[in-house]
Amino acid sequence: MTPAAGPLGALEASGLGRAMREWLWLYPSVEIVHIVGIGLLFGSIAVLDLRLLGFSRSIPVRRLARHVLPWTAGSFLLIVPSGLMMFTAHASDFVSSAVFVIKMGLILAAGLNAALFHSMVLRTADVWDDDEMRHLPPPPSARVSAAASLLLWVAVIACGRLLAYF
Ligand code: HEM
Repeated sequence: MTPAAGPLGALEASGLGRAMREWLWLYPSVEIVHIVGIGLLFGSIAVLDLRLLGFSRSIPVRRLARHVLPWTAGSFLLIVPSGLMMFTAHASDFVSSAVFVIKMGLILAAGLNAALFHSMVLRTADVWDDDEMRHLPPPPSARVSAAASLLLWVAVIACGRLLAYF
């Protein structure tokens, strides 16, 4: 394959881009790192989202969030570098793929949803997450945010997988 022109072509023609295409085990190994990161991201975020939807109400939301969110944040250390490495191998193909563009848009939307959750929903948790209120369903804002998070991350995973086909 001949790398394209421009900055994307330069990425593809770089040592990393060539190694990603030419070393038999490099691309699959990096993809495995991407998937391990995705497992960590989705696993950690899903337990919190399920709690916010109203499951496992004996567990305080804030305690659970403190426990799982560092793992969610840490997962990006695996996901982002591995994603960028795979991107380098076929940069121009990826940017011209609608699935890739949709995937990036969905990641942005999931990030925005998480930011809104932290700046608005979690701030009110001292009211609905205290010992007396905790057995009640979480407020609609928490449930909507959790449902959106689950849907967005599933859609990101689906787009990631579909990149191999479209
Ligand atoms: C943040 C959450 C992300 C999730 C949940 C995610 C999900 C996925 C999934 C499920 C795959 C398919 C793996 C497979 O088929 O074996 C994939 C592949 C890929 N991802 Fe991500 N990804 C994320 C972030 C990123 C980022 C930030 C980039 C950077 C540009 C990226 C670039 C790629 C590339 C280039 C592929 C390879 C596609 C292929 O070779 O077929 N991803 N991703």
